[in-house]
Amino acid sequence: MTIIDGKIVSEKIRQDIKKEIEKLGIQPGLAVVIVGEDPASKVYVANKIKGCQQVGIKSFSYALSESTSEEELLELIDSLNNNREVHGILVQLPLPNHLDQAKILERIEVKKDVDGFSAYQMGKLALGQPELTACTPSGVMQLLKEYGIEISGKNAVIIGRSNIVGKPMFFMLMQENSTVTVCHSRTKNIKEICQNADILVAALGRANFVTADMVKQGAVVIDVGINRVDGKLCGDVDFQAVKDKCSFITPVPGGVGPMTITMLLYNTLKAYKLYGK
Ligand code: GUN
Repeated sequence: MTIIDGKIVSEKIRQDIKKEIEKLGIQPGLAVVIVGEDPASKVYVANKIKGCQQVGIKSFSYALSESTSEEELLELIDSLNNNREVHGILVQLPLPNHLDQAKILERIEVKKDVDGFSAYQMGKLALGQPELTACTPSGVMQLLKEYGIEISGKNAVIIGRSNIVGKPMFFMLMQENSTVTVCHSRTKNIKEICQNADILVAALGRANFVTADMVKQGAVVIDVGINRVDGKLCGDVDFQAVKDKCSFITPVPGGVGPMTITMLLYNTLKAYKLYGK
């Protein structure tokens, strides 16, 4: 059994991004917008800004109060859409309840949609013509690639159908020629379906949901979950119970997590190269 080390892969990709930015002599820019005081979101945003500094991306940071109106936020997005120094715009989710998330995200120029959440970028991915793709599933694909894990012809099972992870993950794994099944809260025989998985991606957000009896001997298990239990971080997979059945497994923390921000940096450079200047 091999534990997939997301920190090492992440660091390697960041070095590549840094080198490419230096070689091209360019200055990609990323705007990061956070509304409100959610402590976990604040940590993510701080790490995104730190990541920018590390690779030579100019960051523009906007921390808005919880009471920010929809009009104010839309105005900020419009100004970032028009700012030629900004190649990527990220609005940290979740947003406070009084803000219409879909409306806010729709306002981001698709060429600056480094989250890959827009209808255009999701549509391009679905058509097999990816441009900017969602960061977490992109990070999963990079980990599989880096560890030489074969995807073609394999049975891949995703637990969770979110717009951020499950759906884009489905298209990415299908594009690499696996047979993909998506399970969710209404799936009836989830255990049997998971038992058939060569590659199992857990992205439902429930601590220790995946137990040893759900995992096939020799499976690759990818844990996208970030849950806090008694102040401790844990994934959607019962790591201790499952690990000995796997050929590869990602830990939490230190697996998929570090890749998400790295893919955001990657997308910012890509947005510059595709549409920028
Ligand atoms: N909140 C949790 N994950 C993400 C993400 O990938 N992007 C944004 N914008 N917000 C998030």
